[in-house]
Amino acid sequence: MEKNRSTKISIIGAGAVGATAAYAIVMEGLASELVIVDVNKSKTEGEVLDLSHGAGFIKPVNIKSGEYKDTKDSDIVIITAGAAQKTGETRIDLVNKNIKILESIIPEVVKYSPNSILLVVSNPVDILSYVAYELSGFPKERVIGSGTVLDTSRLKYEISKRLNVDARDVQTYIMGEHGDTEFPVWSLTNIQGIKIDEYAKEANCKYDEDFRYEVHENVKNAAYEVINRKGATFYAIGLSIKRIVEAILGDEKCILPVSVLIEDYYGINDIYLGVPAIIGRNGIDKVLKINLADDEVLRLKKSANVLEGVLKSSLSEDGIAI
Ligand SMILES: NC(=O)c1ccc[n+]([C@@H]2O[C@H](COP(=O)([O-])OP(=O)(O)OC[C@H]3O[C@@H](n4cnc5c(N)ncnc54)[C@H](O)[C@@H]3O)[C@@H](O)[C@H]2O)c1
Repeated sequence: MEKNRSTKISIIGAGAVGATAAYAIVMEGLASELVIVDVNKSKTEGEVLDLSHGAGFIKPVNIKSGEYKDTKDSDIVIITAGAAQKTGETRIDLVNKNIKILESIIPEVVKYSPNSILLVVSNPVDILSYVAYELSGFPKERVIGSGTVLDTSRLKYEISKRLNVDARDVQTYIMGEHGDTEFPVWSLTNIQGIKIDEYAKEANCKYDEDFRYEVHENVKNAAYEVINRKGATFYAIGLSIKRIVEAILGDEKCILPVSVLIEDYYGINDIYLGVPAIIGRNGIDKVLKINLADDEVLRLKKSANVLEGVLKSSLSEDGIAI
């Protein structure tokens, strides 16, 4: 895409995910101004210096550790602040802590960047995206969760390894919760338009129930596997964030499985969930109501039920965290 020289991006949260997203964004030359805000000022200043020292190799960008006032008139505000999963914790376990953190962030973002697009990444991302939507009062098109963009890349990786093909040629989605109830949409999975079962036959590879089970398990448990070994996941989510930002700024009209407000989707309403959506300069251009197989519809509903339960137990009737 053409690099936009007057684009301002703010990242709230300079932890592993925020810093890696910043790295991916400046490497791609997506912003002319990048502001990072975190309660840990010293760490943020360190990250900003380290990123800025790459100036000799990247497009000019003014990177700053700032206060909320410095984020004024951001085009996109990325939220990566909050507690991260520890070994043995699910994403849902983070909900109360991270809703409280979001309550301190969103009013500041709204005050200084009322026309921005909010990209929520902190977990549990579907719940926090809904809370950000409620707290901000922004139109639903401008509050986006990173959803299952990362999980879908993990799915492409797992399939590509088994079929010995470029992961970018694998067309597929993980849909639903970014979490334990997420599921692969096998019914639509193809390799550059060739149905996956036909492709596997052609490539002399196995494609059966065991294949699907193993791949699904590996994708679902991917974050746990990484966290067990290195404490956090950040490279692939950093690239996922960069990809969503690039799609917005480039007005790409590309399809990504982000977390969006669901309305009348297989009978599901008023919840944020990862589904394929068209992304452009105004955020969500359109949520795609795709044809799912019967078992996939059931899985989507299960995902929605779990998230509805978490939302109900985390929010009081007026939408504020309890
Ligand atoms: N959506 C996804 O696919 C995905 C993938 C990986 C991680 N995550 C989530 O992203 C979040 C960040 O993960 P991480 O590994 O960077 O965690 P981290 O602990 O490394 O960083 C979190 C940062 O948030 C800051 N912070 C805390 N409260 C704040 C506040 N009120 N205002 C500003 N900053 C605040 C902390 O000081 C810290 O620097 C977690 O919730 C994690 O679960 C999401």
